[in-house]
Amino acid sequence: MFNINEIRKNFPVTKNLIYLDHAAVSPLHNGSKIVLEAYTEHFLNQGIRNYDYWYEKTEQIRENFAKFIKADKLEIAFIKSTSAGLSMLANGINFQEGENVIIPDIEFPSNIYPWLNLQRKGVNVKFLKCEQGILDLNKLESLIDEKTRVVSVSWVQFTNGYKVDLAKISKICRNKSNQYEKKIYFCVDAIQGLGALELDISKFNIDFLAADGHKWFLAAEGAGFLYCNKNILDDIQPATVGWKSVINPLDFTNIHFDLEKSAKKFEEGSMNLAGILTLGASLELFNKYGINNIENRILNLSKYAFKLLQEKNIELITKNEDFCRSGIISFKTKNINADYEKLLKLNVQFSKRGESLRISPHFYNTKQEIEYFVDNL
Ligand SMILES: Cc1ncc(COP(=O)(O)O)c(C=O)c1O
Repeated sequence: MFNINEIRKNFPVTKNLIYLDHAAVSPLHNGSKIVLEAYTEHFLNQGIRNYDYWYEKTEQIRENFAKFIKADKLEIAFIKSTSAGLSMLANGINFQEGENVIIPDIEFPSNIYPWLNLQRKGVNVKFLKCEQGILDLNKLESLIDEKTRVVSVSWVQFTNGYKVDLAKISKICRNKSNQYEKKIYFCVDAIQGLGALELDISKFNIDFLAADGHKWFLAAEGAGFLYCNKNILDDIQPATVGWKSVINPLDFTNIHFDLEKSAKKFEEGSMNLAGILTLGASLELFNKYGINNIENRILNLSKYAFKLLQEKNIELITKNEDFCRSGIISFKTKNINADYEKLLKLNVQFSKRGESLRISPHFYNTKQEIEYFVDNL
């Protein structure tokens, strides 16, 4: 289906490394190089002149991303990190003392600290206990009570690659909202899925989602996307505001505080234009090959890695089931430090996370690279 040699030409990193670390920070591709060169060339020689051109580019990228996840353009904002995006929701809800937020106990700190930060306002954080890294949705359902305002989960867990069923969680939140006659927000940290897995957000009721571009999205660090469902846009106050938060932001001398109606109200000031351009370059790449094809290839590669590791009697931490499969495979070897150091020296890029090793291949990786990796463990 893919001409893999042609695709790999777009990833110069393949000449230097076997890159199996997209769950950490991804390498850039040639599409990003092209847009960054154009950006540098312009700002070296022209500065702010013809700025409309760049403004329109960012608006096009916003629209392209909205199409990519089947959302509305007005639901999309650019953010500087996943942590910043999740904090926008945490600080934008008008919490009452005694209310609570539910998060799994295996989340990355980006989806823990913004909620713990609310304890000073009397908000309780309830942890969903995850046995063997698995989210039990019955347990989640029973944790929700009349004081729950938010359920916030990672689409894919960073330690073990466990992919949650977004449709089921969204249904639980909706049913509980109806039961308690009170909106329970469903928030998703999408950074370990976006760019690797297809997302049709119109299919279920996610209220808020955030992801930076530097992992599976193959873009630069410091630029990402936030999705805020249009049904809740009016409820969520921007916690940080600035000249860009209001309607007609360029009318600097006309001071008023009529907040922008769309998710742009979360973009308080000047943005990371260079980073946003790389997000645009990745969207073009994903659209060229089709995100469903990219997803299939990643899942086949991770399934293959699982099989090879299993054949070598390596202890796997990742669950080997299609329903929760993602691009991440984690495992333990007898001598983790030695294996890690050895493979780094063999020009393989991957991660050690606590007491386990983690690989995360993208669609331009090959089965041969996976074989090389496992052979050398
Ligand atoms: C699940 C998850 N969320 C958030 C982050 C960090 O995101 P950011 O640096 O964009 O805040 C990571 C990074 O490792 C992650 O794995």
